[in-house]
Amino acid sequence: RLQEELLRKGKLNALNQFSSAIAHDLRNPLAVISNAVYILERKINDSEGDNPLVKPVRMIKEEIAKAIEMLSSMREKARIHDYEKHPVKLVKLLERKVRNVEASMSFDRITMTLDTENAGDPRNLTINGNPVQLERVFSNFFDNSIEAGANQVTINIAIENTGINEVKLAISDDGPGIPDDIVDRIFEPLVTTKHRGLGLGLPISKEIIEHHGGTIDLTSTGPQGTTFTINLPLMSNGKGNHHDAVVARDENL
Ligand SMILES: Nc1ncnc2c1ncn2[C@@H]1O[C@H](COP(=O)(O)OP(=O)(O)O)[C@@H](O)[C@H]1O
Ligand SMILES: [Mg+2]
Repeated sequence: RLQEELLRKGKLNALNQFSSAIAHDLRNPLAVISNAVYILERKINDSEGDNPLVKPVRMIKEEIAKAIEMLSSMREKARIHDYEKHPVKLVKLLERKVRNVEASMSFDRITMTLDTENAGDPRNLTINGNPVQLERVFSNFFDNSIEAGANQVTINIAIENTGINEVKLAISDDGPGIPDDIVDRIFEPLVTTKHRGLGLGLPISKEIIEHHGGTIDLTSTGPQGTTFTINLPLMSNGKGNHHDAVVARDENL
């Protein structure tokens, strides 16, 4: 198991360096293409009547935008350990994230629920972490559930204060489940079933959660839906906690 873990970390590190170099080098040609398309677009807009080039140019623009987005997520991936940590109110962060997703999606397609019944006092659910990274983890999960679900998907996030200085999040959807042939490898980089997938969402999320001293596991998956569980150490009364030591030990691997 340890060996597997080391292998996984080694692969991720190599992939990080590789992808960050590629992402960097590809930015220049993309910027040049982008400018050229902009000039084309202006010419087309100036021309009279229906121009058959309108559609292909729009397609090029859209695809460039996607490529640029992929590159920036690749570059960001290589910087996971550079972020600063400070106290983050987890419930607030999740509430905001849920509202954002709901606002960006049509209501009849996606239903999101936040179950705080076992969360206790939300003020006690403070994490020493980085809000941008944590939001990224939740986005990855929500995106996966939305992309997996056919027309309609329900996502539930159950927040539980375990009482041992740890918060447990169960993120469930009622989608079709993770395909059998990849279920054992979903946390490995580049494992994807999507036409335009990078297969980095879950590996990045795992790395981020581990960087916060937590764990992330697939709890169940099948035709009834999928549940992931995230455990994160809580800050104890704003004082320093043990999880920096855990991260330091991790990084010495
Ligand atoms: N909630 C889910 N329901 C069904 N399949 C999922 C779910 N989450 C992840 N998967 C599967 O795991 C794969 C890897 O996910 P991820 O690492 O986020 O990469 P990507 O989304 O780019 O494919 C997905 O392509 C999909 O097949
Ligand atoms: Mg994904």
